[in-house]
Amino acid sequence: MPLDRRSFVKAAASALPGAAALSALAPILAARHALAAPREQQTGTPFKGTIRIGLIGCGGRGSGAAVQALRADPDTKLVAMGDVFADRLDTSLAGITEELADQAPARVDVPAERRFTGFDSYQKVIDAGVDVVLICGYPAFRPMQLAAAIAAGKHVFAEKPLAVDGPGIRSVLASAKAAKEKNLALLVGFCWRHNPGMKAAYQHLHSGGIGSVTNVHTTYLTSTLSKRPRKPEWSDMEFQMRNWWHFTWISGDHIVEQAVHSIDRLAWAMNDAIPTKVICLGGRAARSGPEHGNVFDHFAATFEYADGRRAHHTTRQIDGCPSDNTDYIEGAQGRATINGWAPTYEFRDHAGSVTWKGTGTPEEASQMYQLEHDELFRSIRAGAPINDGERSANSCLMAIMARMAAYTGQTISWEQALNSKEELVPATLAFGPMPTPEVAIPGKTKFI
Ligand SMILES: NC(=O)c1ccc[n+]([C@@H]2O[C@H](COP(=O)([O-])OP(=O)(O)OC[C@H]3O[C@@H](n4cnc5c(N)ncnc54)[C@H](O)[C@@H]3O)[C@@H](O)[C@H]2O)c1
Repeated sequence: MPLDRRSFVKAAASALPGAAALSALAPILAARHALAAPREQQTGTPFKGTIRIGLIGCGGRGSGAAVQALRADPDTKLVAMGDVFADRLDTSLAGITEELADQAPARVDVPAERRFTGFDSYQKVIDAGVDVVLICGYPAFRPMQLAAAIAAGKHVFAEKPLAVDGPGIRSVLASAKAAKEKNLALLVGFCWRHNPGMKAAYQHLHSGGIGSVTNVHTTYLTSTLSKRPRKPEWSDMEFQMRNWWHFTWISGDHIVEQAVHSIDRLAWAMNDAIPTKVICLGGRAARSGPEHGNVFDHFAATFEYADGRRAHHTTRQIDGCPSDNTDYIEGAQGRATINGWAPTYEFRDHAGSVTWKGTGTPEEASQMYQLEHDELFRSIRAGAPINDGERSANSCLMAIMARMAAYTGQTISWEQALNSKEELVPATLAFGPMPTPEVAIPGKTKFI
């Protein structure tokens, strides 16, 4: 699979012995060592000078995003980093430094006093005199961190998914609106929308390549994710955080965390129309035991639209089964098969003749991460910041409503999902006891 999320960090061990000890002093040092106040940018005014970047969530994706942000514009500098865990931050900083090679001394300026750890590290990064924040931690915390960044007047790159529940999406929608009002960028990591081959295929679709779209089916069928065995010194919370993709409260479950890419492409094929409701089947066929938390391993969703059309999404994380990540789109005059992994961008008429074939390479799947940052930083420089927050939040809500439908066994409307009162994320975040939530049982688990 070209998108191995954990392939980026090459650095081996911690480059910073004693970083944990330093992190305890960080809040005091931060006050003294914060950079000069960031500039306020007027609408339409070009951003001049060095753009200072802060990274929140220093894992595989965050480390990659930091490098891409640094490469997107020659006058960018990474100046602050935050992670719940010191070991993740240290490894990330070493990896970014290595990746930037001889440019690193000038472009990577993250002294110990601007390295923050713990659940409140995000706020310290935001307050460390940065202009742009890369929010790349776990989905559960995205709404809170996004709200804080926009409130502080920062441009944002935020990874998908943007939230794990209805209250989270409502918060993100408010932040996206506030970002517009404040002329701040908010670019979300739906990277396939920046893949040249995929973009050309979707442009062809929307220019009538198969006539009007009548039906869509996207798939995200893949293998299971790795597990980190529990260490005796880990609290429940640390165990769950280090195995986050197995816990619905942190990841949203795999239909929200991973397959949302393909749900976003389903939305793209439907011209980003909002579905009225969804039914979704799902369960655990091959996952059991505490190491698998409470997530399902397969889902099959059918979205319904106001004009009577239906669109389908199926996702599976089970080993030993074939993989597929394709958008199968039916139209009045033919069908399109769009697969970015292969890549395959093929349009046929109803007789089976090829009417259009796109070009692309598997490497484009890694380039799209760079291209999204190029676009983000170009827009900030130009004083016309990009903001795809609302559209992205809608795609995330589609995935969340499908999970809600699968867990409860009920048909869930858009309004129900959006106004849901279910708050998955604990109000207080701390290391300590944390029972594993029960695995949902359709027909018994209640919609909240
Ligand atoms: N766009 C894509 O194709 C793509 C690819 C991979 C991952 N992602 C997304 O990126 C996000 C991160 O995934 P990853 O693979 O890098 O995971 P990861 O576990 O490698 O890294 C996440 C890091 O964030 C830290 N973190 C979590 N919560 C935090 C908080 N509240 N404050 C500070 N730090 C926090 C973790 O300790 C960890 O170091 C996920 O939402 C994932 O869905 C997107």
